[in-house]
Amino acid sequence: MLTEQAENILRDNSRGDYTIPTDKLYPFQWNWDSCFCALGWGYFDEPRAWEELHALFRGQWDNGMLPHIIFHQNVDTYFPGPDVWKSNTDPATSGISQPPVAATMMRMLYAQCTDKEAAEKNIKTLLPKLFAFHKWYQVERGHDGLIATYHPWETGRDNSAEWEEALYKVPTDNLEPYQRRDTDLIAADERPPQKEYDHYLSLLQFLRNHNYQGQELRDTVPFKIADIGINSILLRAHRDLLWLAEHLGEHEYSAEIKTWITEMENAFDRMWCPKSQNYCSYDLVAEKHIPIETSGSFLAFYAGCVPEDKQETMLNTLEHWGEKVKFMLPSLNPEDQYFDQKRYWRGPVWPIVNFMVATGLKECRHHEHADRIGRDTCALLTEHGFQEYFNPLDGQGLGGDHFSWAAATWLFWAQDFS
Ligand code: GLC
Repeated sequence: MLTEQAENILRDNSRGDYTIPTDKLYPFQWNWDSCFCALGWGYFDEPRAWEELHALFRGQWDNGMLPHIIFHQNVDTYFPGPDVWKSNTDPATSGISQPPVAATMMRMLYAQCTDKEAAEKNIKTLLPKLFAFHKWYQVERGHDGLIATYHPWETGRDNSAEWEEALYKVPTDNLEPYQRRDTDLIAADERPPQKEYDHYLSLLQFLRNHNYQGQELRDTVPFKIADIGINSILLRAHRDLLWLAEHLGEHEYSAEIKTWITEMENAFDRMWCPKSQNYCSYDLVAEKHIPIETSGSFLAFYAGCVPEDKQETMLNTLEHWGEKVKFMLPSLNPEDQYFDQKRYWRGPVWPIVNFMVATGLKECRHHEHADRIGRDTCALLTEHGFQEYFNPLDGQGLGGDHFSWAAATWLFWAQDFS
């Protein structure tokens, strides 16, 4: 019953060969949403799963960047749309990227596909594009083994408390007048406050003035953070890209990918924050740790980068959080001063982050911790619907409904716990 519902959500949100996250609130193709959706489609329509990824890469830039939004067609319920980003590309896109889950989702999709021959054909076509995307992250955003992000929206954890201090340093004096659309559709207390939005938009304008790339931007961008999420996700994705390339006999990519992996592995521990006793994001402008623990911290397991002694400390933290909330995993430490059970990335649970963290924990053989997250995700989706995010204290479904990646997460993972 729930499985049928989940499949129907993906069908309803399909716009030909790509899936929108949800109608009206997010009416275009989003980068990481789409990769999770592909894995969901893979459970009942393999050809459609691969189409999703091809559609996503139609938005790739010449420099390899895979944008966070692809505006395949015009819809006016969303701000900031193509007229604000001004990408000068066809299709129009945003000018920043998102967490690079594509290679990992592709490897998982390949593992689950019954038609391996078709899957391999698709991967062969996508591989050079995927490689170019990873190379863009390394070349354009690499900083001594850490990867920089230039906008909170690039992290996918848009409104996380980690970004606040750095974001508020972005000047807003040249901000063009604008009208946001999200609060027409969703209660304001579940969305970012206005002041924050001004800084998001000012930063967007700054990036746009530099055509979103280049050395001058790297030297002057006021917001430059090594996000623990992106760094964990990319490191893992490099390994999955290497696996895909080698499995298909495309060995020309191996040496370069291996160099990236080594560089990132060597730098990873710089994101260990002594104050928090956890992996945290690092501010590359202020050159300091951001001592705020989020669900992103636990993606270090997914990166496969946590040494034995740190694993125990992190598991203790996880257990402590588990006592404070009914549903794991809150997006912010429930004892943090900014914790807010309802607001976007300041407390609520996100099913896709749960999937990645649980995957990492399981691979490190922490089955009990992984299973708690799996069971809680299953309970949320079963009892509170296919919502965008959930209140970790009472499970209430929040944000957009009829949500694609919630449905996809059910199909490829959460239903195993029912
Ligand atoms: C929000 C989320 C982001 C997601 C997008 C579409 O902006 O923060 O991670 O990709 O919605 O679902």
